[in-house]
Amino acid sequence: MTERNFIPEKLSSIQEKGQCTWKSPSNIALVKYWGKSDPQLPKNPSISFTLDACHTITTLSFKQKEVKDDVFSFDIFFEGKKKEDFKPKITSFFERIEIYMPFLKAYYFEIHSENSFPHSSGIASSASGLSAIALCLMSMEKLMNPSMESSYFNQKASFLARLGSGSAARSIEGELVVWGTHAEVAGSSNLYGVTLEQAVHPVFKKYQDTILLVDKGEKVVSSTVGHQLMHKHPFAAQRFEQASQNLSAMLAVLKEGDLDRFIEIVESEALTLHAMMMTSMPYFILMKPNTMEIIQKIWDFRASSKLHVCFTLDAGANVHVLYPEKEKEAVLEFIENELVDFCQKKHYICDSAGNGAVCLKKEALSSTKLEK
Ligand code: DP6
Repeated sequence: MTERNFIPEKLSSIQEKGQCTWKSPSNIALVKYWGKSDPQLPKNPSISFTLDACHTITTLSFKQKEVKDDVFSFDIFFEGKKKEDFKPKITSFFERIEIYMPFLKAYYFEIHSENSFPHSSGIASSASGLSAIALCLMSMEKLMNPSMESSYFNQKASFLARLGSGSAARSIEGELVVWGTHAEVAGSSNLYGVTLEQAVHPVFKKYQDTILLVDKGEKVVSSTVGHQLMHKHPFAAQRFEQASQNLSAMLAVLKEGDLDRFIEIVESEALTLHAMMMTSMPYFILMKPNTMEIIQKIWDFRASSKLHVCFTLDAGANVHVLYPEKEKEAVLEFIENELVDFCQKKHYICDSAGNGAVCLKKEALSSTKLEK
């Protein structure tokens, strides 16, 4: 597949009015994406667990404009409130995807979104938010082209989501998704995410992710800026090579169920991500003292309990605690007894690996068939 495959051919009908609703999840990377080139192409392949509980629900209503013009017309509402400050991000998303969705300027859109997690939780909502919008737009395209196959639908949804936010490419399907070309993953691409087709050991089924909300504030440096700083980073080349090697190692681990090696790769990836931030110019630190306290507690508990609990980090201070489903009871007890005091207002979210986005509603309210 190349970019050109995502430019639609002739549509079979015109939808004058309609509405689609999608529930789309967040994801947590095991091998991290950090560094990209235009247009949103990753410098290395990454792999993530699709999450289940952390999601965005988005409804997109569309109506054909009565008078044609040359602008993107839409309003965006978040949790019921009109959000003018979200508009520039959506406008630049529409600009990037217009060539693949040439009908965008012919419509007025109303976008309503809500997250299952608190907005100010420090959990990045770009993966679930942008993938939800991409899926709604794909449902709209499918209404106008009903013969579209579901594999193409998902691939293009991931492709569009990536153009909104890189990690959103991994939020369409589950439970494990690879984004970025890698020799050992058949069909992998820098353009979109693919579900991992190889056999995965049952220990990774419904893998648990308890997200400890250490800091709910605005980040000092955004991911977008962080990615840019990889351009002149002294360790960039080694990092991109290491990520590819870690993905190779992770593929073997996922097949064999080697949890000790899983822990090594996942924690090393998390710390390397933050090491890249600390060695950028300008340098920055997103971890907080409580992030470090939690990491040390996890290491101590793992040594004494022999359980397979480990941590990973996103571009922020929150800690994702990962562990197999069968160790859930003991690890949750540990989290409640020893880790919640390091969370803001003792807040944490229990999540697990999930199966991807779900369409909640799709309806054409008025349409016209086009001549063949
Ligand atoms: C640290 O996907 O948020 O979470 O492409 O600029 O939108 P943009 O960045 P984003 O990058 C986040 C990267 C990460 C690691 C990962 O999810 O792989």
